[in-house]
Amino acid sequence: MRNAETAVTKKRALTGIKPTGAPHIANYIGAIRPALALTDQYDSYYFIADYHALTVIKNPQEFTDLTYQVAAAWLAMGLDPAQSTIYRQSDLPETFELSWILSCVTPKGMLNRAHAYKAAVDQAAEEGTADVDANVNMGLYCYPVLMAADIILFSAHVVPVGRDQSQHVEYARDIAQKFNHTYGPTLQVPELLLSPTAATIIGSDGRKMSKSYGNQIPLFADTATLRKLIRRYKTDSTGADEPKDADNSGLFQIYREIAPVEDADDVKKALEAGHMSWGQLKDIVFKAVDGFLTEPRERYRALMADRRQVDRILAAGAEKARLEAQHLLARVRDAIGRVEMRP
Ligand code: ADP
Ligand code: TRP
Repeated sequence: MRNAETAVTKKRALTGIKPTGAPHIANYIGAIRPALALTDQYDSYYFIADYHALTVIKNPQEFTDLTYQVAAAWLAMGLDPAQSTIYRQSDLPETFELSWILSCVTPKGMLNRAHAYKAAVDQAAEEGTADVDANVNMGLYCYPVLMAADIILFSAHVVPVGRDQSQHVEYARDIAQKFNHTYGPTLQVPELLLSPTAATIIGSDGRKMSKSYGNQIPLFADTATLRKLIRRYKTDSTGADEPKDADNSGLFQIYREIAPVEDADDVKKALEAGHMSWGQLKDIVFKAVDGFLTEPRERYRALMADRRQVDRILAAGAEKARLEAQHLLARVRDAIGRVEMRP
């Protein structure tokens, strides 16, 4: 059934991914897969948060390429545009009008406490920079309000995200409530939906896998690169026949997420009993990841080779999404007292 027909009965799920780097396997495990798992149960809106990426991406060509990469990643990993609405944030000017309106009910102190902004300020302070705001652009500062607008514009009931995004969803809730308190009940207050299984996947250097650390396994690397990156994973010095801590190994985490449960159990037992070396684990994980990604990689390459196809899908998604967005924005404008003037 198409979502236009089911929208009345189904609750809505919405999530976005910002194109700040090539999508990696932790983005899939932590964000893309849990979101795709909801498409039967929810009326789903999934988008490329391209204007959110502008806080860091300043190179126009890179901005274009990354936007296509994230769109193609959603599609290659299984998003069906006939079942979910997929669009690009910047195709909806309504988002930015709503963002301004919401910023006027958002206390500045809330944004002072936002994790990403605080992290930038703390780092500047640590480095002894006199003006701790010197390297903070207003986009970074206002980021949570724009994200609240993304969510509220579609009256999303649930927002599936990784744990690192939970503060942003809490902010979207607070902002919606503030608006409703000021202007009367108008906006849906969204709920955070954390995937029960999604752990924070550890990258090749032992820290959280993240584009910002350069420790990631890209989703669409070729086989040779994939092998090299998995080989390079940092492991501790436990010898081949010593017991190993499977749960704290980034490689085992990845394996557990993509391999059949029984295989993952066997590998865990072997590691913990000292019957498997890290080198053997690397071989097993490489084979599993490479096999798992073979088909998505082909779909991804085909999409990236035919960007017009991606354009068409995103344009159709935006067209549908805009109707919804305009509807909500009309209610908001009405609530704040902006009447339509007629000449
Ligand atoms: P990155 O840290 O690589 O810049 P993003 O912040 O763009 O990743 O995250 C995009 C999505 O992927 C978010 O929903 C986030 O929760 C999820 N995600 C990112 N890194 C991880 C990780 N190491 N483990 C699990 N989920 C992750
Ligand atoms: N901030 C999210 C991230 O960094 C991306 C995002 C932008 C988003 N707007 C959103 C996620 C709305 C969920 C809902 O991953």
